[in-house]
Amino acid sequence: MIANYYAKIAGTGHYVPEKILTNFDLEKMVDTSDEWIRTRTGMRERRIASEEQAASDLAYQASLKAIKKAKIKPKDLDMIIIGTISGDHPFPSTSCILQKKLGLKNIPAFDISAGCSGWIYGTNIAKQYIENGIVKNVLVIGVEILTRITNWNDRNTCILFGDGAGATIISRAEPKDISRFIDTEITADGTHYDLLIQTAGGSKMPASKESVEKNLHTLYMEGNKIFKLAVKSMQIACELLLHRNKMDIKSIDWLITHQANMRIIQALGKRLKIDPNNVIVNIEKYGNTSAATIPIALDEAIRSGKIRHGDLILMASFGAGLTYGSLLIRL
Ligand code: ACO
Repeated sequence: MIANYYAKIAGTGHYVPEKILTNFDLEKMVDTSDEWIRTRTGMRERRIASEEQAASDLAYQASLKAIKKAKIKPKDLDMIIIGTISGDHPFPSTSCILQKKLGLKNIPAFDISAGCSGWIYGTNIAKQYIENGIVKNVLVIGVEILTRITNWNDRNTCILFGDGAGATIISRAEPKDISRFIDTEITADGTHYDLLIQTAGGSKMPASKESVEKNLHTLYMEGNKIFKLAVKSMQIACELLLHRNKMDIKSIDWLITHQANMRIIQALGKRLKIDPNNVIVNIEKYGNTSAATIPIALDEAIRSGKIRHGDLILMASFGAGLTYGSLLIRL
């Protein structure tokens, strides 16, 4: 497709709850150790939302920061897209609740259920709308309170997840802007849908006494299989963009991947042959915040001055579905 306009990231923001759950806290809850968690995942601590907070509250805080950074007002937004699998309610969408919190009306607002790839999926959609000239400013958020659907008796999963939100304003780029989306790809492989799943609570298995007793409303994951698929699919997604845009990995300033496991990030970096110094990692502080990991990492790296205007950034994610995707931008 020949783009009529270009899209760019005009502003970023993130919010994480105050409460910290450390590996040492987890030692008191399940049969695990700080050493096991650190060496097998790279995580040291994660954030937990307070009882009063829902996903839209986290998203709201992150949005205000991104809106400020983009130097726009909420009324300048043309669309809201949220990637989440732990929204306020099964329906309506968390985007509509956020729309109300932002004091907006009469713009499209919808959620995307693509697991950890939710933000990459959302930016892909925003890009199309902006390139077509239909809209100028889209708020794309990854937000998750996965700790609400965590089985706190399952040491295989409860050590992994944290809560947080990352927000981005995707805007039309002026012709003179060097900042722009270069390319993006999203895809899915539903043959593995059951490797990472919240079994109950939908139309297949509505909530019942039995489903609650059997903990079927919590997240189930076959970590080992997911691990291998994560590395392979993110590699495919990254190489596709590099190849399609005739770029060498050496030209990439920063790689930001979904923060699911330090060993996944390292294995992918090794396969792509990128210098580890060019890989953004914050997994030790927040664990896996699912759809929020990439926009949180991006915002942190921009605010700390690590990532700068004009840098070339390759991003890749992978999540429940199984979904995966990549994004290549010049900031
Ligand atoms: N503490 C101590 N031991 C543990 C723990 C724990 N917290 N968890 C598992 N173990 C044990 C297992 O029981 C097993 O013991 P056994 O050999 O006696 O059976 C042993 O450690 C090894 O278990 P594995 O599952 O093989 O461990 P692995 O090295 O694969 O690490 C992990 C597990 C961390 C879950 C890893 O597989 C992983 O990160 N997978 C990918 C997760 C992911 O990418 N998720 C992304 C999507 S999330 C989303 O979309 C919402």
